[in-house]
Amino acid sequence: MKYQNFYNESINNPEQFWKNQANEIDWFTSPQTILSKDEYDYNQWFEDGELNLSYLCIDKHINDGFGEQNALIYDSPVTNTKQHITFNQLHHEVSKLAGGLQNLGLKKGDTCIIYMPMIPQAAYAMLACARLGVIHSVVFGGFAPHELAIRIDDCKPKAIITASNGVEIKRIIPYKPFVDEAIDKSKNKPEHVIVFDRQLGVEIPKKAYDVDYKTLVEDSPSVEAVSVASIHPSYVLYTSGTTGTPKGIIRDTGGYATALKFSMKYIYGVDEGETFWAASDVGWVVGHSFIVYGPLLNRNTSIVFEGKPIKTPDASTFWRVISEHNVKAMFTAPTAIRAIKKEDPEGDMLRQYDLSCLKYQFLAGERCDVSTLTWAEKQLNIPVIDHWWQTESGWPMLANMVGVGLQPIKPGSAGLPVCGYDIKILNEDGEEVEPTVEGYVAVKLPLPPGTLSNLWGNPERFKFGYLHRFPGYYFSGDGGYIDEDGYVFITGRVDDIINVAGHRLSTAEMEEIVASHQSVAECAVFGVHCEIKGQKPLGLVVLKSDKTYVEDLVQKEIIQDVRREIGAVASFRDVLVVERLPKTRSGKTLRKLLRNIADEQQFNIPSTIDDVAIVEEIKSVYQKHNIGIHNK
Ligand code: COA
Ligand code: AMP
Repeated sequence: MKYQNFYNESINNPEQFWKNQANEIDWFTSPQTILSKDEYDYNQWFEDGELNLSYLCIDKHINDGFGEQNALIYDSPVTNTKQHITFNQLHHEVSKLAGGLQNLGLKKGDTCIIYMPMIPQAAYAMLACARLGVIHSVVFGGFAPHELAIRIDDCKPKAIITASNGVEIKRIIPYKPFVDEAIDKSKNKPEHVIVFDRQLGVEIPKKAYDVDYKTLVEDSPSVEAVSVASIHPSYVLYTSGTTGTPKGIIRDTGGYATALKFSMKYIYGVDEGETFWAASDVGWVVGHSFIVYGPLLNRNTSIVFEGKPIKTPDASTFWRVISEHNVKAMFTAPTAIRAIKKEDPEGDMLRQYDLSCLKYQFLAGERCDVSTLTWAEKQLNIPVIDHWWQTESGWPMLANMVGVGLQPIKPGSAGLPVCGYDIKILNEDGEEVEPTVEGYVAVKLPLPPGTLSNLWGNPERFKFGYLHRFPGYYFSGDGGYIDEDGYVFITGRVDDIINVAGHRLSTAEMEEIVASHQSVAECAVFGVHCEIKGQKPLGLVVLKSDKTYVEDLVQKEIIQDVRREIGAVASFRDVLVVERLPKTRSGKTLRKLLRNIADEQQFNIPSTIDDVAIVEEIKSVYQKHNIGIHNK
């Protein structure tokens, strides 16, 4: 079928279109109501359907006779481990862990935080929760205890599942002390902390709430998957917003399963039985949708990779994994390709491997610059496909739907709208703009199945943050334009969110931490260009005049504060002391101007600026500290 017809069908007759797609998955009770509204007048899908994600990802395939197919391949260059896990083995691990959780009192509707490194037990934990209808919330391991505590207090988990440690490049990260510290800091105390000891010699501090993961699994019975309503939340995933408090994106069950099955087939072009690899982390939406649920729903073998694109041990790791495990389609962030390109510019390491199995390379998570895309195309000699989506959408909104038929690739564009997404570019007044004119990227309601259903405990923020600005539309928070051929170009966030190595972070949150340092009078944190990570945060601080300080020490303390509060993942390493910040006459800090001066883009000095002379002052501070064109 041609892309355009298929897409038009999804927009013109969404109920029939998604009803057909919902028939591709096994329901315990098939939905009769396809599209309806919830109490907040927001769309929901397949309201009266009943199903279970864990059943669809595991039991169904065993029932169909594929129990001995590999479900997961754990490949961990950082611990030198490889493990193949069949659907039968996955069933054993997940159904017994679910039995253990049930014995501990967890039941449908309870919440459970998962704070794990990239090991198969992270996927088991997610699937065990889903088996019981327990709503999981996976927290990325690179977040510090403070961030974990915020999430504990927001989603109030009955239990936390964690591991003894993570393994970063040449560094062990003990997780259990972080969990203990987070529980200490939080008002809401979970009843149990289930700890998987990786037996890498890391000491696990003991607490009364601890439960040993392995003993729990050994001593517990297997349990069957419970039936949950399509609109039952499968998980809450926190993501950065424009304030210091992260937002808990709620994902439903039936719409999500339908959308993921659809994605594997039509967006990623993989058939049942083939191997798919998303080199991300279960802590991000990519990990939820395309390491765990999507591939397993589609009976693909999914790779759980514990490593980095470089230095584990070198820039050939990705190519080894693809070749060794027969990967058909792979997904990573452009930052990973940039890191590899820097180490292996001519692709010599890549050519050491037979990559004939790889048919498509997908990129997302941040804007993909043309030189990264063309380098990857040249080296791999296959379609390299940039595609665009968000934690909120849960699956791609723009792509080149290779399963429907590859469309021409336009470097710089994240592709064409995916079925179900009626994407529009709006101006300040909410009117559609002409092709090639830049504006706000919005999606006409209703959103297709699998997208966010609300914000955990905060329906007001949901409405205000996404639906209020342009009535009748979902506002993505990104800017962009559509060209004459309908290709969409995403130009970047229009808010205070930055994307560092594909990780979404809030500069407002960093700014709150920097501002709380005792020597800081005022500050601004914003994202500046970084050759490898795409963006990195830069802080400018004005120090209080009534104090004496050693500038270096203050800078180190501020950097340490952000690392301690948010985590190493913030990559907050640059703080500059300035005399003053550029402001409008009404006193608003001109962060965009600060960013544009750093990125040395052509910039207009806003007419509202209080004092033009400050632009030269800032330029000279940047020059002194090598911020700008030399910015690495
Ligand atoms: N647990 C604990 N710490 C973590 C972590 C985790 N899961 N993930 C990252 N960190 C730490 C790192 O150790 C590093 O700490 P350091 O400051 O002490 O060195 C810090 O967070 C920043 O990590 P990262 O952004 O990964 O930078 P890096 O320099 O270690 O690696 C890249 C650079 C480009 C190789 C790496 O960022 C990468 O692989 N990016 C791809 C990201 C990706 O796939 N994102 C998913 C979006 S789809
Ligand atoms: P996250 O919710 O962490 O997945 O981050 C989503 C944000 O990352 C989007 O709102 C975009 O700003 C950015 N993003 C993701 N994919 C792309 C892409 N292909 N091109 C440009 N920006 C992207």
